Amino acid sequence: MDGDDILTRLTPNAQAADPASMKRHFGGASDVLPLWIAEPYLDLAPEIIAALQQRSAVEWYGYETRPAAIGASFWSWMERRHGWDGAELTAVVSPSVGTSIGVLLDQHTEPGDGVILQPPVFTDFKPLIRTAHRDPVRNSLTFTEGRYGIDFDDLAARAAEPTTRAMILCNPHNPVGRVWARDELEQVAAICSEHDVFVIADEIHADLVLAPHTFTPFGPIASAAGTRWAAIHGPIKTFGMAGVCDTLLITDDESIAQQFNRTSSQFHLTRNNVFGLAALVAAYGSDGTWLDELLDLTASNAALLAAELPEPLQLVEPEGTYLAWIDFRGLGLDVPDLAEWLWSSARLALSPGHWFGREGAGFARMTIAAPQAVIEDAVGRLRSAVDAG
Ligand SMILES: Cc1ncc(COP(=O)(O)O)c(C=O)c1O
Repeated sequence: MDGDDILTRLTPNAQAADPASMKRHFGGASDVLPLWIAEPYLDLAPEIIAALQQRSAVEWYGYETRPAAIGASFWSWMERRHGWDGAELTAVVSPSVGTSIGVLLDQHTEPGDGVILQPPVFTDFKPLIRTAHRDPVRNSLTFTEGRYGIDFDDLAARAAEPTTRAMILCNPHNPVGRVWARDELEQVAAICSEHDVFVIADEIHADLVLAPHTFTPFGPIASAAGTRWAAIHGPIKTFGMAGVCDTLLITDDESIAQQFNRTSSQFHLTRNNVFGLAALVAAYGSDGTWLDELLDLTASNAALLAAELPEPLQLVEPEGTYLAWIDFRGLGLDVPDLAEWLWSSARLALSPGHWFGREGAGFARMTIAAPQAVIEDAVGRLRSAVDAG
């Protein structure tokens, strides 16, 4: 199959495949199907495209003050989608999730402190901790009967270490697709409260929850438990616009917001991107129809994978995110061989599991926010590669 065809079918915006990264990670062959970046490989929401087109038609790309309505439109969205009314909380605009995590680590921990993370987990967390000269502290997820969970005894032991000062919680969890339940979040909050561990809840996938699961925000649970926390939200993953849009930092503690704002001012992180503002307001003002369709498509693509993946491959059933976490261990390939098998035999650019930590070895992540025909194509490629031995 011709590579250009693939990109056209995935999305008219072939940029989504990020050709430079494709080349770096997967050799750049034009017949490799790219499903590795956590972005919808689909036409994006028309209301966002319209808002960006309208904004670009206004030939004034200079300074623009952030509309005061951002906080209100975020809370209105949260209330409508998740029943979370947090209007009494503080919402601060931040250029990216990574920026927020970096700044929060800088402000609430010291060099040499330990920061808990729960691998296999999103690739940026560990480098963010390391570049801040903090130590990643692994609270590896458990994997029992095909389902991931939190090892609370281990978490309590890690949190009790005197140098442990913070934790990055990923809810919903990228890449394993767990949407943490209330009782799990309560246990995390209780442990972190007991040991005064500051929790950074990365909730950037909050909107991407598959029925019957529901998103439970960590903040209210943490506040009730007396845990110090800040949560990160934004429409960047939901609507596939990480390249343009800002994010939000949410906290119940005015001093955390003030500290964050001071650093924002110090390093001029407050400089606005006029398109980012337009996209953010359009996203949270949208009626959610596009997102509902995305979630339906994700659920049906997950069902397709569960039914059609060739033996011995197995889908870990996703509760949230549009990412499928697939168990390839039955193939018996070691880490470099699986990574190579995926692109050289199956002609698929997936994120090999070891990118997310050693706990991910033998797995790979596939973005399934894509037309059903593309997922069928991916399954066919996997089947041919498995059959070829
Ligand atoms: C859990 C999680 N956090 C953060 C990000 C990246 O956010 P940013 O690019 O704004 O740093 C991603 C991207 O996939 C993600 O999955």
